[in-house]
Amino acid sequence: MEKPIKKGQDLSVKIEDIAFGGAGIAHIDDFIIFVKNGLPGQKVQVRVTKAKSSFAEARILEVLEQSPKYRQAPCPYFEYCGGCSHQNLAYDRQIEYLYAQVKQLYQHLGGFGSVDILPTVQSREIYRYRNKMEFAFSNRRWTTGDYETEKPENFALGLRAPGNFWKAIDLNDCLIAPEETPVVLRIVRNFALKNNLSPHNQKRHTGFLRHLVLRKALNTNQLMINIVTSDNQHHVFQPLVGELAAELNNLSCVVNTISRTLSGTTIGEKQHILFGEDHILEKVGNLSFKISPASFFQTNTVMAEMLYNIVAKYAALNTSEVVWDLYCGAGSIALYLAEQAKEVIGFEIVKAAVKDARENAVLNQIENVQFIEGNLDKIFSKKPELLDELPKPDVLIIDPPRGGMHPKLIPVVAQLNPQRIVYVSCNPASQVRDIKMLLEQGAYHIAKIQPVDMFPHTPHIEVVTRLMRTD
Ligand SMILES: C[S@@+](CC[C@H](N)C(=O)[O-])C[C@H]1O[C@@H](n2cnc3c(N)ncnc32)[C@H](O)[C@@H]1O
Repeated sequence: MEKPIKKGQDLSVKIEDIAFGGAGIAHIDDFIIFVKNGLPGQKVQVRVTKAKSSFAEARILEVLEQSPKYRQAPCPYFEYCGGCSHQNLAYDRQIEYLYAQVKQLYQHLGGFGSVDILPTVQSREIYRYRNKMEFAFSNRRWTTGDYETEKPENFALGLRAPGNFWKAIDLNDCLIAPEETPVVLRIVRNFALKNNLSPHNQKRHTGFLRHLVLRKALNTNQLMINIVTSDNQHHVFQPLVGELAAELNNLSCVVNTISRTLSGTTIGEKQHILFGEDHILEKVGNLSFKISPASFFQTNTVMAEMLYNIVAKYAALNTSEVVWDLYCGAGSIALYLAEQAKEVIGFEIVKAAVKDARENAVLNQIENVQFIEGNLDKIFSKKPELLDELPKPDVLIIDPPRGGMHPKLIPVVAQLNPQRIVYVSCNPASQVRDIKMLLEQGAYHIAKIQPVDMFPHTPHIEVVTRLMRTD
């Protein structure tokens, strides 16, 4: 069948709603068009960038009629960068749309018609809230028309252009990143250009400079800079370290990570400490956390504490109860709950994260926790004895990656049959899918659903859901 709409075609459409994922939704008859940065109420002239048989994607060429919900995005890169798709909406409107999407997912995808969803806990800061940014070097600067023509075209340090992963938008700042960002980007960019250090070519996998990762511990003010390169020539960075330390008085650690993999990961085979320690220290509540370059840590520190308080409230532990923390990362939730529990057992696939979790337990003098390294997709089928040997959980915390739980883990959870389950997720679509399966296979009901905004201006939302055993 011929596609009703073709790539490259220009159309005039009215945006009706915002889709899960952030794009504006428009229709031509029954055919759906997802419009990047489109806002409900806007009439726009668009160009189709992708055309499939059931939907198309388009970008705005001109706003013909403005939406009453529109406001000028403060970021100069907003139109090009894919990171913040909602900066042109006032924050309370962003919250409304995300809330409506969570509700729709629970009601329509999950079929949980009558559940109540609590009002979203809003982010305390809506700019400079991220404690970690991964910037990319590229040998192809994303450019359009007369945009920043004074900059070289064969060098960029910034964020990947959406839908164009071999180019990067050269950034002077990013408004959701730590406040030191413009200084770090300027010094590193100038140093690389002055010394002819080649940026990475994402297509051919050549070039020396791959990523620049910035991490900041909010409550201790410590700053980490990690330069990821394809080769081991760490000595070239010594003058750069001097320049960074001269301008950044909170610089605690500069690392050069060597990563030769074809994938874009910032976790490498080798690390050289160029300055200071091999980690920064963060504080959340009464606890200290050691954050190494490869550690996972919630990216919005203020909201991480709020999130963990909600998890603790929904876990409602007494000190005779056992908790299992599935997908525990560097153990932050497990350690946060340890004081209120008899014992906490964390499970995690990444070796370095398990090492951090164990070190963080020692750092905080917490003894009633243990961390098991393993792949939750198969650990209980490979080692069924774990289910008999470990103390059974009264409470289960589940905090999986975006894709959600492996289907094989659902019957294991039903078999463990804990009193309470607290499911934390940054992707309510996979969360709803998993909860639906859990309710089909185990005797549970949904007791509470709490959205928490950890990622202002983006289409992402965290949701904490409390399941109670029905007996
Ligand atoms: C969203 S993070 C949760 C981190 C932690 N709960 C926290 O708040 O810091 C998800 C974690 O699941 C881990 N993970 C992903 N797939 C896994 C698997 N198949 N088995 C075990 N852990 C996995 C990731 O390495 C990551 O640390």
